[in-house]
Formats: sequence, C-alpha cells, structure tokens
Amino acid sequence: MSQKIKKIINKKNVSKIVSLTAYSKNIAKILDKYCDIILVGDSMANVLYGQENTHKISLTTIINHTISVKKGIKKSLLVVDMPKGTYSSKNKARKNARLVMRLTKCDAIKIESNKKNYKIIKDLTKNKIPVMGHIGYTPQFNKKFSVQGDTEKKSKKLLEEALSIEKAGAFSIVLECLTANTSKLITSNLKIPTIGIGSSSNCDGQILVTDDMLGLSGFYPKFVKKYTFLNRIIEKAVKKYTKEVKKMSFPSKKNFLNGTRAK
Ligand code: KIV
Repeated sequence: MSQKIKKIINKKNVSKIVSLTAYSKNIAKILDKYCDIILVGDSMANVLYGQENTHKISLTTIINHTISVKKGIKKSLLVVDMPKGTYSSKNKARKNARLVMRLTKCDAIKIESNKKNYKIIKDLTKNKIPVMGHIGYTPQFNKKFSVQGDTEKKSKKLLEEALSIEKAGAFSIVLECLTANTSKLITSNLKIPTIGIGSSSNCDGQILVTDDMLGLSGFYPKFVKKYTFLNRIIEKAVKKYTKEVKKMSFPSKKNFLNGTRAK
C-alpha cells in the first residue's frame, strides 16, 4: 500500500477527509492546495458533456481528463472513476484498471457497487490496484435518485455491503445519499474511511462535485451547498467583454502587440 493511501486511512477518527471532483488541470491546481482526494468522476458525463446519465462516458474520455487533472496535482490522492461496463468481469476490470493506472499515473480507481462485484474488487486489490468503493445511490446502477438506508432493514443491508467491500480490500468507500443514521452505523463499524455525499456529517470525509458547489452546473439538490455563484461571475465578465468589443474599447492600446512580446 502506498504512503499516500496509508495517510488517507490514518485520517479516520483523526481529521476529516476533504475531497472534490476535477476534470481539468486548472481546477485541479486550485483544489490540490486544500483537498486530500481529487476524484475524476464519471459525473463529467452530466456536468461537462450534458448527457442525461453517466452510462455512456468512455474510458478514453476519463483517461484524457485524468491526464489533464494529473498535471495540476502535486500532493492530493488522485482517484479515477471506472465507467459503467469497464469492470463487469475480473479480467475486464483488471485490464482496464491497469490501463488507467499506466496511462494516467493516478493513485487509485473507484468502482460503484452493484451489490455483487465484491470478487472483482478483491481481484483488483490482490493485484495491487487500490480501490475506492461506492455504495448507496450509485448512478451507474440506480435509475432513480432516492435516499438510501431509510429503514432499519435497508440500513443493515448497506452495512453488510460496506463490510464486504472493506473485506475485499478497498481503502475507502463513498457513501452517496444515505440517511444520517445509516452513515453513522457504517462509519462506526468500518476500519476504512467513509467519504459522504448527501450523507450527513456522520462520515470520515466529504466529497462534492466541484461544478455543483461553485454554482456552475445547474444541479443543486438539497445536499449541495453552493459556496459561490460562478455562473453569475462568468456572465458578468462575458457581458463586459461583449460591450467592450462592440464599442471598440477592447482591445485598447494596452493590448496591442506592435510586434513585441506580450507581457
Ligand atoms: O462521479 C462522481 O463525481 C462521483 C461523486 C459524486 C462521488 O462519483
């Protein structure tokens, strides 16, 4: 196990793990100063590519975005989401995960649980491929967005699922849209850290889709806190640029090159 992954595990019960998603170098460079984990999420399918779900994003697209993100990272743990269909058997998962790790130099991959793929996770971890699990609302396998673990029976099932993923060798696990009680139950029964999204503060860390928390994506369920409204800031700048181009105050003499190198 790498030192970087050990460091994440050691944060459990010591300090909260800060995670966000990134799809490009410039954003990753900013996040890297503050985040423990940066995830290249398959949420890029909705957020960047305007697709209605995450089901069709290709491994090549994820790899290309990760190569960009990696260029902005100095210290955070870089985790890559494996797209739907790329880990449906042990051989396929191993081959694709190795390709991702080799081409992107990422630190780990993330796999959504379909409540059956524990053997695939075990095979990957046995082959020294670090895996982050993902349970609860899993967009690759759940059709409808809904709260998970809202009865005692469902809560216990989710705990069993999380324990199986831990046993298979995952180093951490994303809990998506779990009730506060279920998050607490799982977090207190697991040795590996839990990273919550829409799952209360009863987790060892938090993750959000960066475009959501910056107010850029237009997807704002209750669990997303908007820390700024980047859409308004960008619009203001574009509006000013448009005005200046039209009245020819941009480019001004200051922006003329006159054959010299731009400063
Ligand atoms: O794809 C993604 O961004 C994710 C996070 C929401 C955890 O899986």
